[in-house]
Order: sequence, then C-alpha cells, then structure tokens
Amino acid sequence: METIVLKTPSMEGKIYVGKDILEKRLPVLTAGQQNFVLTDSNVYRLYKEWFVRYFQDTEIFVLEAGEASKTFQSLYEILSKMTGAGLHRTSRLFAVGGGVIGDIGGLAAALYMRGISCVQIPTTLLSQVDSSVGGKTAVDLGGVKNIVGAFYQPCEVLVDPSFLKTLPRREIKCGLGEIVKYAALNGEIFDLLSNNTEKWTELAFLEALIVSCIRHKAGVVEADEKESGERKSLNVGHTTGHAIELTSGLSHGESVLYGMRLETKIAMDLGVCEKSYGEALVSLVDRAIALEPCSDMDFKNIEQDAEKARSDKKNTDDGKIHMAVAKAKGEWTMLALPFTEYQDALKNAVKK
Ligand SMILES: NC(=O)c1ccc[n+]([C@@H]2O[C@H](COP(=O)([O-])OP(=O)(O)OC[C@H]3O[C@@H](n4cnc5c(N)ncnc54)[C@H](O)[C@@H]3O)[C@@H](O)[C@H]2O)c1
Repeated sequence: METIVLKTPSMEGKIYVGKDILEKRLPVLTAGQQNFVLTDSNVYRLYKEWFVRYFQDTEIFVLEAGEASKTFQSLYEILSKMTGAGLHRTSRLFAVGGGVIGDIGGLAAALYMRGISCVQIPTTLLSQVDSSVGGKTAVDLGGVKNIVGAFYQPCEVLVDPSFLKTLPRREIKCGLGEIVKYAALNGEIFDLLSNNTEKWTELAFLEALIVSCIRHKAGVVEADEKESGERKSLNVGHTTGHAIELTSGLSHGESVLYGMRLETKIAMDLGVCEKSYGEALVSLVDRAIALEPCSDMDFKNIEQDAEKARSDKKNTDDGKIHMAVAKAKGEWTMLALPFTEYQDALKNAVKK
C-alpha cells in the first residue's frame, strides 16, 4: 500500500493506493457519525454487494451514470437528499464512482453546511490517476464544462485498483488520456509509458502508473492549490479537449487525447515544442486512441470547437485562447493565441 500526503493551506489530506485499503480504512471512516454515499447507476449495479458490506445502514443516492448528470439539477437533488437525511456538520460524504461522481459529490460536500468531510473512492482509471486528487469540484452549466465549482479538498482518497477489473476498455483508454497528459509533464512517467507500451492495460502496471501520477499531481497541487501558476500545467490538451468534449459528445478522457494531439501539433508548428519530442508524445497519444478507436471522430465540428474554446477557464480578458502545451521532455509552457490564429492553427493541425 502507498500513502501520499497532500498538504495545502486549507487542509492535510491522505491518499492511499492499494488493494486492501477499503477494508482497512472504511470501518474507521464510517464509524461514529452519520454518513451519506453518492454513486452512479453503473457502479451501484456492479458493486451492490460491496455497498451492502460497507454502507448497510447508510443513505445511498444513486445518480444516473454519465456527464449529463453533472448539472445544477443533480446537485440540487443531492443537497435535498442530504438535508432530508438530517446530516450534521460532523457527517461525512463518500463519493464512490468516476470523475462525474467525484466532482459533483465534492461540490455537494463543500456546500452542505458550508463544508462537511468528504472521502473520495474513485472507481475509474481517470478518477484514480487524476480527478479524485486535488480538490477541484464542479458542475457544468450552460454548455460550459466545470464552470461552477469550488476548491474543496477531500479528507481522504481511497484508491483501490481492483475496481478497474470491471472497467470497459474504452474507459481504460479515457484514463490513459490523463496519464499521457502526465507523461507530457513528467519525464519519468513519459519513459515508463514509452518503455512499456505492451503493458498499458495490465492491472499491476496501471497500479504503478496511478501512484506516479498521483505523486506528480499532489506535488503540483501543494505548490499551487488554486491554479494561479504551476497547476495550469495539468490542463495540457484541455483547452481544445474541453471544446471537443462539448461539440462531439466524446467522453472527457477521449477528448483530452484529441485535444493533446492537436495542441501538441500547434505547439510544434509554432516552434514552441521540440519536434522530435512532440512527435514522440503524439505517438503515445495515438497509441492510446488506438486502444478503442472512435469511428465517428472526423473533426467536422472544428469551427465550433474553436468557438467553444473561447469560454475556457484559462482565458483572461486579453481575448486570446490560452493553452498549456508540452515544450520538451518534462517541460511545458502557456501559449496565448488571438482567436483567429488559434482557429487557423487548429484547422492546420487537424489536416496533419
Ligand atoms: N476534478 C478534477 O480535477 C478532474 C480532473 C479530470 C477530469 N475531471 C472530470 O471527470 C469526469 C470524467 O471522469 P470519468 O472518466 O471517470 O467519467 P465517469 O464518472 O462518467 O465514469 C465513466 C463511466 O465508467 C463507469 N464506471 C465507473 N466506475 C466503474 C467501474 N469500476 N466498472 C465499470 N464501470 C465503471 C461510470 O458509470 C461511467 O459510465 C469529467 O466530468 C471531467 O470533467 C475532473
């Protein structure tokens, strides 16, 4: 079992990674106060017995699976259930699921009585390597991703890689989207991925990757919890990725892969990213995409994608599109392009 401590000005949280972690921590964390569990319909169906074992007398709220549930309406329903269950300041919310459940559950915990304790139990590869760590919580609104939210750190994150056994291959690919992002920022993760391409879907290898990615993210979040500098790096591929996610209906992880492919090409075209390194990174992206190709990804919406990038949260009042891009092994930088230049660069990148 690995333990990673994440210390920010607001809180000190612990992240545990290991197959026996739930057995060890859940009896301790659920004892002595009223609890509330949030999960989604797929996870509940697959792990019903598990819920009975650990949360027998606990209120369990099951949200319809998928990004479409990450809304104000769902948040309202969750908060209403929490109020109806009579939760107190000392109560604890357990978010059991992928990034959707972690994001909306974390926000509900942040809002209820101005903040109750939250435990994240991520069950997808994407949420284990990324979204459960670092305290970003949110819902989507008005066609903009994660536009309403809060920074709210979980007290603990319990990462059990055994959940990945039931995860469809397409969701493994989505997790690899965020893992390749870490590879763009961290030379060791880049080498680990590049040197072990045949192991990408093996559980033992994924467990090692999960620990490396969480360690990287925890270090970045400790240095810059509220994303005024270094934390922006964790958005590599995400400006265009979020835009693609909104126009294509692809999942977050898949969209990030395409976003990273296009933004790395833009950075290479502009001479910002070293060519040979950029090509190696794009080939990692392509390998992840090839795990479960999307037959419907034709970039016909590229004009709309560019438009959607206008509402990205990294943009400022300068009217430019801001992107975190890979520069060289273990190095990144921010690019800010006037909208028309971004639009042209994106169209060129799609052709390559
Ligand atoms: N907060 C952050 O820092 C952060 C970072 C990255 C992404 N995100 C957010 O995370 C979300 C994407 O997360 P995701 O990819 O986990 O999506 P998700 O939560 O929709 O899960 C993907 C699918 O996998 C299913 N699933 C979950 N666990 C399973 C299991 N063990 N076995 C079988 N099926 C399982 C879910 O029901 C769902 O259908 C997006 O909303 C994105 O914006 C947040």
